[in-house]
Amino acid sequence: MPALDQRRTPYFDALRDYVRAGTVPFHTPGHKQGRGMHRRLRDFIGDRVLAIDLTQIRGLDDLNAPEGPIADAHELAAAAYGADYSYFLINGSTAGNQAMLMTALRPGDTVLLPRNSHKSATSALIMSATRPVYMQPEVDEELHIDHCVTPETVERALDEHPDARAVFITSPTYYGATADLAAIERIVHARDKLLLVDEAWGPHLHFHPELPPSATSIGADACVNSTHKLIGGMSQASMLHTCGPRIDQGRLRSTLRLFQSTSPQLVLLASLDVARMQMATQGERLLGQTLALARDARRRLNRIPGVSCLGPECVGRPGVAGYDETRLVITVKDLGYTGYEAEAILRLRYNVQVELADLFNVVALVTIGDRRDSIDRLVRAVQALAREDRPVDLYAPSGILERRMAQGTYSLPKIPEQVVTPREAFLAAHVEVPFRKSAGKICAEVVTPYPPGIPILCPGERITQHIIDYVRLELKAGVHLQGPADTRLRTIRVLQA
Ligand SMILES: Cc1ncc(COP(=O)(O)O)c(C=O)c1O
Repeated sequence: MPALDQRRTPYFDALRDYVRAGTVPFHTPGHKQGRGMHRRLRDFIGDRVLAIDLTQIRGLDDLNAPEGPIADAHELAAAAYGADYSYFLINGSTAGNQAMLMTALRPGDTVLLPRNSHKSATSALIMSATRPVYMQPEVDEELHIDHCVTPETVERALDEHPDARAVFITSPTYYGATADLAAIERIVHARDKLLLVDEAWGPHLHFHPELPPSATSIGADACVNSTHKLIGGMSQASMLHTCGPRIDQGRLRSTLRLFQSTSPQLVLLASLDVARMQMATQGERLLGQTLALARDARRRLNRIPGVSCLGPECVGRPGVAGYDETRLVITVKDLGYTGYEAEAILRLRYNVQVELADLFNVVALVTIGDRRDSIDRLVRAVQALAREDRPVDLYAPSGILERRMAQGTYSLPKIPEQVVTPREAFLAAHVEVPFRKSAGKICAEVVTPYPPGIPILCPGERITQHIIDYVRLELKAGVHLQGPADTRLRTIRVLQA
């Protein structure tokens, strides 16, 4: 079969040709290519975006049953990523994880997944009526962040749960570490299980040899990429890829139909088509420039007293088989700031916005959208932050976290007993009770302290006194909680007795 011409952008072309033809639109969206939209927004975003904000009429194909230019664009994406099939997604990797897990699993099945999986995986467990067995990711005590699960952890989990149908892996993490996917693939496929990879943070990996290997290159059965996170896709634009015969494409397509709107945002689809073309034709050069900028930034950040920036030297630590050097994890704890404070100062005083803050770090993404001047702004802002006169009272007023760390007592409680599945917990009747009196009750929500971003409780799990004491101490130390309806956890939602 002749190689596909990766310079083509069949879906974007179809939208542009419709506009050029000057067809009179008697279809949605009602703003009619911008003409009916108020000037306040129209003048700002421009008529061209609105002109291709169309619906799936003749010639523009149907995302839920593609046969024309969307099918062509999917085929080009699959070839570019080395997959057998690729699908465009308009609700991010959230929809991708949901569709991937729903396709691979049957009600009652067991799936092995890292404890720190994204909440879209939890929602997939609820919808698919499956039973999770959580694997503990490796925790970097020094930086208070979590990395990936190791092949040994996967192997042990499979030994203990030979009935599991699939293994779900997150790689890269938010912090840029990648799992040893090649070793995990050998272990998982040797037992004839499915390997599903949440590669939301890796849409670029496939296109540069100095980046860690992509999930498609090691033969994962399915993976998701948030094209919008790090390359040219617009927000919510993601892709799902599959390799090999283990995923039933018919089932996957029907599952995607459950999750995708019947009125997809076609501008997002065009951005996926063009992002693929850009990576396939210029990716290595653009990502080479990105890597050079990120490496330069890391070097300069590491020269600032009190600041350190994680780099490829971390490869080989537990749970770090590879490292995406475009990620800048900037550790500010020795400046006497929390990451949360540093994030606020960088934004409010220096007009620089990072992606993520946690207790010790801020995380900046360097992408193909950066240039030397944006990198200079970041480095200068961190230099200025480091010069600011800050009394070193990081954990004031309590000093609890510091004391606990010195005593070596900063260890996560064990994964608690799973009494019912996440779905049963989600669908059951819930009541709100004071958290400090909730020992013995079954949790209805996810409770995740950041850092390190590993849930302490998931729906269906029994709350213990150890967990209550741990979380209350974390809250006093200023740790942020994600998941519960009451983020200060004065109350918690539990299953009605
Ligand atoms: C590991 C991981 N998976 C999946 C998602 C969901 O991706 P999206 O925002 O594209 O829906 C995220 C979002 O941050 C994520 O960090």
